[in-house]
Amino acid sequence: MIPQLVRDQLALYLPEERIAHSDRVSETAVGMAEHWKMPTDIVQRAGWGHDIAKALSPKKVLRLDWDGWPQFDSLYDDYPAIWHAFVGPLMIEKCLGWTDSEFLSCVRWHTTGRAKMSSFEQIIFVADYIEPGRSFDDRDYIQGLAKESLDLATFAVASRSILSLEKRRGTIHAHTLRCRDYYQSIVGQEDAKDIVRILINLS
Ligand SMILES: [Fe+2]
Repeated sequence: MIPQLVRDQLALYLPEERIAHSDRVSETAVGMAEHWKMPTDIVQRAGWGHDIAKALSPKKVLRLDWDGWPQFDSLYDDYPAIWHAFVGPLMIEKCLGWTDSEFLSCVRWHTTGRAKMSSFEQIIFVADYIEPGRSFDDRDYIQGLAKESLDLATFAVASRSILSLEKRRGTIHAHTLRCRDYYQSIVGQEDAKDIVRILINLS
């Protein structure tokens, strides 16, 4: 459960359903970290805070009148769904006072992914997709992959994101492409082909 102090901060910027999602991402991420015998503190907090900027926009931030706040306006114009991930670490530092770089990095890369992610970053990237509130047709499949290998699951989430954007003719961020390509090279051509075939069949 999200501690009350953290919940109070999140509630200033997020609706209740987004806080509930953040709680589930955190619990999912802790379960994954335990499965992989990793420390849980970083991913637990990253789950709580990863979407803190999700309901904001450059215009709303302007109204908050925060001193010296970078706007990232062009990122918002080009990728409105991604902007919150890059603004999130700044907000967390300001609102929650958490400054450790490994943790902030999980927040920064949770939407696009990137090549050579840390295991903590991979866990949040995947947990955001497979938390039990999600109803994606390939959720259970990717959850199974995450028990087998974080690299397989990371490749699957990046591939799924690209397949969905291609279908909707959305703009794919370069970091997502680099993430997919990097993890494809890690898991190998055969496994990568199988995963993409299954993702297409499930969609
Ligand atoms: Fe999320």
